[in-house]
Amino acid sequence: MKNRKTGIAGLIAATSLAAGAATAADVEVLHWWTSGGEAAALNVLKQDLESQGIGWLDMPVAGGGGEQAMTVLRARVTAGNAPTAVQMLGFDILDWAKQGALADLNEIAAQEGWDAVVPGALQAFAKHDGKWISAPVNVHSTNWVWANKAVLDANGIAVPQTWEEFMAAVNALAAAGVTPIAHGGQAWQEATVFDAVVMSTGGPDLYKAAFIDLDEEALGSDAMQEAFDRMAFIRANVDENFSGRDWNLATAMVINGEAGFQMMGDWAKGEFLNAGKMPGTDFLCFRFPGTQDQVTFNADQFAMFDQGGTVSKEQAALASAILSPSFQSAFNVVKGSVPARTDVSDADFDDCGKQGMKDLAAAASSGNLFGSMAHGHASPASVRNAIYDVVTAHFNGEFDSATAVQELVDAVSIAK
Ligand code: BGC
Repeated sequence: MKNRKTGIAGLIAATSLAAGAATAADVEVLHWWTSGGEAAALNVLKQDLESQGIGWLDMPVAGGGGEQAMTVLRARVTAGNAPTAVQMLGFDILDWAKQGALADLNEIAAQEGWDAVVPGALQAFAKHDGKWISAPVNVHSTNWVWANKAVLDANGIAVPQTWEEFMAAVNALAAAGVTPIAHGGQAWQEATVFDAVVMSTGGPDLYKAAFIDLDEEALGSDAMQEAFDRMAFIRANVDENFSGRDWNLATAMVINGEAGFQMMGDWAKGEFLNAGKMPGTDFLCFRFPGTQDQVTFNADQFAMFDQGGTVSKEQAALASAILSPSFQSAFNVVKGSVPARTDVSDADFDDCGKQGMKDLAAAASSGNLFGSMAHGHASPASVRNAIYDVVTAHFNGEFDSATAVQELVDAVSIAK
């Protein structure tokens, strides 16, 4: 939890100072895309805008999952100095919309026909009171595993299809002296793994009842206790330096063959690509064992802060650039995510991207598409943070699984 609080004051000071430099023809964009792969994807957007004569004032706030970025945002808004556009997830967008802070994008949305091409699951977070209030950039999902192919091959390991096969693979790597799981010990990363572990352990019924309906019985169930036991197995198979590690450094361990697996959203693919690695040859992507039919998604969106009246020309240009089909392809190919429109071809995507697009469409039509708890698409931030605290405390050995379940019930009931 220490990681979630350090350095915020400094960040706020730095971003507030830099904010003074914005000019009318700039967009000032607050985001947390600071890893190599993320920065490469962001460049696609910057260049697109620059080609239209719109300057980009960069406001990066490091911290995977965006908690630190949201803290900086609150301080900026409180100071009456909201950025033009802000990377945001799920319920956070709706919270700002309810406060009347976001600009109405209906005009550009109508001109460009967003209603017809953006999936309903995303519109649920991009519209408020019948108004478009953010521009969806992508769809990520959290129930992925990334593996180093050479490490798996050298140890005779095939892609595990079930939790039992996954445990066997992990045990085989441990016996061979290889770190089985690359993990970064930060609350949001533990929660990201927990998304997939809960889905795999209790299926969509448990996931939905616990994380979306916040049902006490589901939160306190035996299946939830089993999910915590599985987290303990994962904890037992990470290296000793995991604490506080950034997610992209954990990805680098898999890239470099220092570890076999990482459970992480598909932004991890951006790191492999940025390191010149090829899916199927150097690395493997597969759904977390036991979640092959489900997708736990999070969609990055850019919410436009109301600058006092109508949407500015620059905000409209940014929104339009983000939703254009060519940008949706070019950006998401690099980012590791899939398009936020249903009408974009998969031709330029690699095999992991093609699978991601296929999985998303299949999950949406079979009722197996669920918002990611860890990335703010299942419940509001207060509940999400309460779950983070319990999951991370258990991961770090503060609670056994039976206690964690009780703590989870209590924490969610206080937060909701
Ligand atoms: C965002 C991704 C980002 C990841 C790690 C997630 O919440 O949706 O775009 O790459 O955090 O920073």
